[in-house]
Amino acid sequence: MGAVHAASRHQLNGHTRAHNIAVVGSGHVGTVMASGFASLGHHVVGIDRSEALVRALSDGEVPFHEDGLPDLVRDGVRSNRLRFTTSYADGVPKADFIFLAVDTPATPVGAADLRNIRAAAHSIAGSLNGTNPVIVNKSTSPIGTGETIEGIIRGKIAATRREPRIVSNPEFLRQGRAVFDFFNPDRIVIGSRSNRDARAVASLYQGLGGEIIITNLRTAEMIKYVANSFLATRISFINEVARLCDALGVEVDHVVAGIGHDERIGTHFFKPGIGFGGSCLPKDIAALRYMGEALGVSTPVLSAVQQVNQHQRTDAVRKLRSLLGSLDGKRIAVWGLTFKAQTEDTRESPAIDVMGLLLNEGAELRVYDPVVRQREQPRVPARIRDALVSDPLEAARGADALAILTDWSEFQTVPLAGLRSSMTGNVIFDGRNILDRTTAEDAGFVYVGVGRPHPAATPATRKAGAAA
Ligand code: UDX
Repeated sequence: MGAVHAASRHQLNGHTRAHNIAVVGSGHVGTVMASGFASLGHHVVGIDRSEALVRALSDGEVPFHEDGLPDLVRDGVRSNRLRFTTSYADGVPKADFIFLAVDTPATPVGAADLRNIRAAAHSIAGSLNGTNPVIVNKSTSPIGTGETIEGIIRGKIAATRREPRIVSNPEFLRQGRAVFDFFNPDRIVIGSRSNRDARAVASLYQGLGGEIIITNLRTAEMIKYVANSFLATRISFINEVARLCDALGVEVDHVVAGIGHDERIGTHFFKPGIGFGGSCLPKDIAALRYMGEALGVSTPVLSAVQQVNQHQRTDAVRKLRSLLGSLDGKRIAVWGLTFKAQTEDTRESPAIDVMGLLLNEGAELRVYDPVVRQREQPRVPARIRDALVSDPLEAARGADALAILTDWSEFQTVPLAGLRSSMTGNVIFDGRNILDRTTAEDAGFVYVGVGRPHPAATPATRKAGAAA
């Protein structure tokens, strides 16, 4: 069922009244939460400091890629259950619940940067006007942040002799699938000192399904970090297994199938590739490690997860070098710039890291991405931006090799015969294992994937050859 249609399934039932909700931060998470709650029947105000973003959303325009979100925002705005403003004074006083959905980027040492959270908490505190709404922290933030917010609010409501009502309610939304994930939660995690406030927040999600887990503030904050760190661990684990498969001549896809039928293991999140990226997994695993180290707790498993993740990038370049010889002057077509498919986000994109390494070895790139087309992408290094072309076959024209670095399904539909005739060379490095190797080899390509061994790129095979 489409994510937006799912909303009709979830209209508030009789005994749950509509609440007034303010959501601070209108990015992927905040806008999905605001429009999702509006579709459930609540009255929602989205607050953001960007005039341009507030104007676009108020016009029902969503300036970033999120399946189903434009319809949800437009429905909410048209039904007068959803509006956007830059003013806390406008959005805060009437709110029963105020959600914090601002970003907490990583600092260079790995600690989460809480400037946005603190600023939002101060702005909320300054606009309460004697009210005492439940303040719900949705942002991924270090263990103890709930107490920080509590201290900021307490300073402002001390005269009322009331306790701040702080709840941690971490999000588990995946970029590109955030609307679906909002309407189909596996679980709703809620941390609070007050069971009453926790249950009040739980009631907002009435009818969405998913296990309601009520705990204390710190445990809710920890659950989020551990969830993302475990997801990252699964990816690095299967990437390490894929490296062993390459060396031992074993098919990683079959290994995943063979272990995944054990219900304790499963097959999800076991796709080998050039590693994980995005604005969440890398940041959250670094933040959890930082929290441990700050308290003298070493985290060698998480450290290894990060190391394997970095190695996947350099291993991609090693494989291309093993097939092309020196990369200096070689023309390499690259498909995929974003950190994963179904998003325009290039933050911590493994594809960008691999392209940087190829450029450092003198390769000439031609880059195609289905959504990152325009050249004014500030996060993308100029040398890569300047290599952008608007068609996958144009990127491949005259190329010695093709490197597929993001798992857009569009790449599976490019005719291989046309691809072969447009390229000069015949090497495909499939960094996300999205093509079928036999089909590619039948079309005349030398195919190299991740954990899909090929004799020319298998170190063990070469050693055996040397011994013979
Ligand atoms: C992640 C978590 O999944 C989500 O629950 C949390 O709320 C936010 O962080 P997201 O960052 O949007 O979501 O992306 P995700 O789909 O988890 O992928 C993260 C990275 O891992 C991407 O670079 C992706 O390509 C990579 N990945 C994912 C793999 O390499 N292999 C896999 O099997 C899955």
